[in-house]
Amino acid sequence: MAVIVNDAWTMDEGATRVRALFEQYFAAQPTAIHSAPGRVNVIGEHTDYNGGFALPMALPHRTFAAVRQRGDRIVRLVSAQESGVREVNLDDIDTHDSNNPVDGWPAYVVGVAWALEQAGHGPLPGLDIAIDSCVPFGAGLSSSAALECAVAAAWDSLVPMGADGARLLDSDEGRARLVSACVQAENEIAGAPTGGMDQAASLRCVEGHVILLDCRDQSVQHIPFDLAAVDTELLVTDTRAPHALADGQYARRRNACESAARALGVSLLVELSDDVDWSKLTEEETKRVRHVTREIHRTLAFVRVLERADLTADALRELGQLMDESHESLRYDYEVTCPELDTSVEVARANGAYGARMTGGGFGGSSIALVPTDAVDTVMEAIVEAFDKSGFNEPHFLRASPSAPAQ
Ligand code: GLA
Repeated sequence: MAVIVNDAWTMDEGATRVRALFEQYFAAQPTAIHSAPGRVNVIGEHTDYNGGFALPMALPHRTFAAVRQRGDRIVRLVSAQESGVREVNLDDIDTHDSNNPVDGWPAYVVGVAWALEQAGHGPLPGLDIAIDSCVPFGAGLSSSAALECAVAAAWDSLVPMGADGARLLDSDEGRARLVSACVQAENEIAGAPTGGMDQAASLRCVEGHVILLDCRDQSVQHIPFDLAAVDTELLVTDTRAPHALADGQYARRRNACESAARALGVSLLVELSDDVDWSKLTEEETKRVRHVTREIHRTLAFVRVLERADLTADALRELGQLMDESHESLRYDYEVTCPELDTSVEVARANGAYGARMTGGGFGGSSIALVPTDAVDTVMEAIVEAFDKSGFNEPHFLRASPSAPAQ
């Protein structure tokens, strides 16, 4: 098996692709092109819906949307990933638990319009939209958030939703409101009970930084993350193991956290003090709570290391250690890893990585490794070889640098 690296498209390349797709299907020019990135979460996993902290960054890999406003309430959608045109009337959108939910991926698009209208920004115009993306699908890198955030940027630019005709995109506070609409779209229209970290990363990150996201009050802190300056990289392994967030396992983890919080008399697990009364929890809840509370501490410890002056080799080793501990906790306490994820992190560590962990929801998807730049090729080759020996799908790699938000 060869080493396959998924390079990000440049902004020009992405724009050229969606423009051509738009012209091919709609026989007209788009009036605007918007885009939004996928993300990796550096640490702080399954903490967002518990009010904890997460530390994501935007990938250079983006979803592009070419759009043109229509005179009615119809949304016509084409994607480079399938043939044909999908059509949804904005007046016909119903929630996922209704008798008439929106079918398939268009739910992520029209759900955003629905949620923006629920928040009082409407009525919104219909759009013709062409979509293309270099964010791999089903890889735990938030391709759905990238799609939502790209179309949120489009509607906000056509019908500026901020005060005095400004766009919500023009301020971080406005972007936080777009995040809420995208999360509501995903939860209520697409039916995925996710926690909001992905949309916050896609809309509120800035280039060269990770964001420390406080999921209780949605405040963010931008923290420089310049690994290149210390000859280090964040290598993403897309394991290409089957991955599905909506298959019930994610919801089950979330439910266990919510029932544990109720049993312990707090509204969110982040509020727990250090002396948890474990006797009130089932065995399953005990493991989930142990992961969440420790992961929140690890995330804050990771940030303290980043905020120290230089990323010395010692500091990088400390970061790697925290990533390793996070993975072990997700493996044994939260139980969301899989053999492909475990193998990729073990092989990365054995071949020179400072540390490695799964990223995103788990149950397949991707892992990340903090690797000295001169060891990246060796790590990739070793992972490919190990996957081959184990009979896993051929992995793909992404070289992640902290990139720009939705625009
Ligand atoms: C998925 C969800 C996020 C978050 C992560 C786990 O990516 O979309 O909201 O819960 O899993 O940290």
